Amino acid sequence: MKKVFIKKTLVFSLLLLFAMAGQAQSAETSAKQSKTPHKTKGNPITPTYKRADAPIDTRISDLLSRMTLEEKILQLSQYITGLNDNVNNIGKQEDEYPNNVGSYIYFSDNAKLRNELQRRAVNETRLGIPILFGFDVIHGFRTIYPIPLAQGCSWNTELISQSCAMSAREARMSGTDWTFSPMIDVARDGRWGRVAEGYGEDPYTNAVMGAAAVHGYQGRSLNNTSNVAACLKHFVGYGMSEGGRDYTATNVSRQSLWDTYLPPYEMCIKAGAATVMSAFNDINGVPATANHYTLTEVLKKRWNFDGFVVSDWNAVEQLIPQGVAANRKEAASKAFSAGLDMDMKDGCYQEHMSDLVKEGKITLQQIDASVARILRLKFQLGLFENPYTPSYKESERILRTEDKRIAARMAEESIVLLKNENNLLPLNKNQKIAVIGPMAKDKENMLGSWKGHGRAGDVESIYEGLEKEFGSQLLYAAGCDFDGEDTSGFASACSTASQADVVLLCLGEKREWSGENASRSTIALPHIQEQLTTELQKCGKPIVLVLSNGRPLELCRLEPLCKAIVELWQPGIAGGTPLAGILSGRINPSGKLCITFPLTSGQIPIYYNARQSARPDQGQYQDISTLPLYEFTHGLSYTTYSYGNLSASTMRITKNDKLTVEIPVTNTGDMDGYETVHWFISDPYCSISRPIKELKKFEKRFLKKGETALFSFEIEPKRDFSYINDNGSRFIESGDYYVIVKDKRIKIEVVD
Ligand code: NOJ
Repeated sequence: MKKVFIKKTLVFSLLLLFAMAGQAQSAETSAKQSKTPHKTKGNPITPTYKRADAPIDTRISDLLSRMTLEEKILQLSQYITGLNDNVNNIGKQEDEYPNNVGSYIYFSDNAKLRNELQRRAVNETRLGIPILFGFDVIHGFRTIYPIPLAQGCSWNTELISQSCAMSAREARMSGTDWTFSPMIDVARDGRWGRVAEGYGEDPYTNAVMGAAAVHGYQGRSLNNTSNVAACLKHFVGYGMSEGGRDYTATNVSRQSLWDTYLPPYEMCIKAGAATVMSAFNDINGVPATANHYTLTEVLKKRWNFDGFVVSDWNAVEQLIPQGVAANRKEAASKAFSAGLDMDMKDGCYQEHMSDLVKEGKITLQQIDASVARILRLKFQLGLFENPYTPSYKESERILRTEDKRIAARMAEESIVLLKNENNLLPLNKNQKIAVIGPMAKDKENMLGSWKGHGRAGDVESIYEGLEKEFGSQLLYAAGCDFDGEDTSGFASACSTASQADVVLLCLGEKREWSGENASRSTIALPHIQEQLTTELQKCGKPIVLVLSNGRPLELCRLEPLCKAIVELWQPGIAGGTPLAGILSGRINPSGKLCITFPLTSGQIPIYYNARQSARPDQGQYQDISTLPLYEFTHGLSYTTYSYGNLSASTMRITKNDKLTVEIPVTNTGDMDGYETVHWFISDPYCSISRPIKELKKFEKRFLKKGETALFSFEIEPKRDFSYINDNGSRFIESGDYYVIVKDKRIKIEVVD
């Protein structure tokens, strides 16, 4: 560590010497180059780049024309700070990196340190370029919302936008300008810990929900004290991690890249996402960090992305263990030449870029193009005019009533009722409820992975939520821990269960069991939790299983033991009351899975939109069912919905026509509720084989009991029936297509 630090300090000193030597000359050059000096009161000449009224492109080129190479290279570099913002340590932290570094990952939960570092950048450097502060605001900054996988199950894009907007507000008011979110990696392997961070297995779902998140974070303008820049990650194919093991190489055919992994990115770039983070994985032999095809050809050239790409943590240096760079210098050269603009954390760019330019391996034009992208965001965020974060009272900045209300709403809508035999739920107000299990009174693990600045103390536990709803009806026993072999709590759990009418068994995963570097070989819960369930079942009391976890689980042994199963996910700070509301029937559950629950881990990968099989009736597993336990979009309600027939405005159209397909849905039960209608299409015969069905639209609506609503889908064949080839070209063929809702389908013929 120390050695690295000394090395870095030395390099910085050298760079600074260079910079100082270059300054006189470059200041002179810049004075010559400065095109339109502008006189303002008290400041005789305001350089163009400092003029808020000048167009951003003009400001960028003016600033670039004044910068030394070293100053430019620093803009391409990101380091970390704020791990400890104790006042006594601030000075130490400030001195670690040069004042004019491009960006920091900022770990503090308030703006004190940021403002001091910013003051140095703005006042004590030659050009006063403000620093960009980023942080992983994944599902909340201090107010922690349900994990993104849970949010996906809400199918409520407006609510996703709102929770991102609330998170952005807390973050920006606390000194963060940029979040490394949303993660829109299509993820179909529950063993991969990072499934928690995205919106599940489907490209369209990730695309639409990712775009909703981008809108929430960025709002209408980045130049606003409530908005932050978004970062799409991890570009691309990271969800394919082999065996669910993080950081491994991925084999993604060009076809799958285009039809499955790239579409969410394309949609979110169109939604205006400011930045992109490259992935850790090696894609078919070329690491994403140094992948010219994905970073430059696709992202920057085809999609005209004008934001910038940041590497993942130390990922430039990791090109060495990935086997494509001999040393840090070659790593810097390869990543930068591929189109990676900003180097996160490892310092390879800062150390070697200058030499690479001298050696002609990288051109000044390339450097300028990348720096321009980074400066653009700084201008867009208004950092040149408003570099500092104003100081706010904590009560107006974090954990406001409004934030918590949205967090609770999101928890409410993301809870999925997986099973409800004989309508055991909702529970009735006279029943004695034995609340058992390691999750029941837990707080820390409810936060989930990437908890931002969330604190266990902010969390309402399951038990606290239940107490408000059921009061003296509750009995409690822990039963066992999350893992280990200690069965000493079983006896008291069983005696508690026998005094009750129903057992509410709260099981789940610790928060660090999912997220980054949290792969598991099996997605079953630890044996001790299954053992406890088996013991409790012997008491003969019906079990309602409540699960809090960051991935789909293998429930094949637990499911037969439980009469009802409620998937709470990791709900963040406000899950207790929504869960209690669902258990009591005050709230009608409306969540539906955005990821398949396999029957066993051995079925992985299993997802709804697999390609068609050569022998659909064969190739089944011989030892277990080939069907998942709970499929994509599964989720029960306390009411019933009856779906009428699909009807289409026309059954035969040309490729340029539009048609509308409709379906009436009636709430036929006794309770008002939200229902989500998922619209799929199927193209059974095409020049490229396609998935069995593909989600193309979803819509969630409130239906009063007895009410019928007409759901409709306006289809544009070129958008909704078309497909994409392995070169990224969209095409549409004539022939038969099916529009599918639940078990209903209607055939549409597309003619030339
Ligand atoms: C590594 C993770 O892969 C990425 O998602 C995160 O944004 C960065 N570290 C920064 O913390």
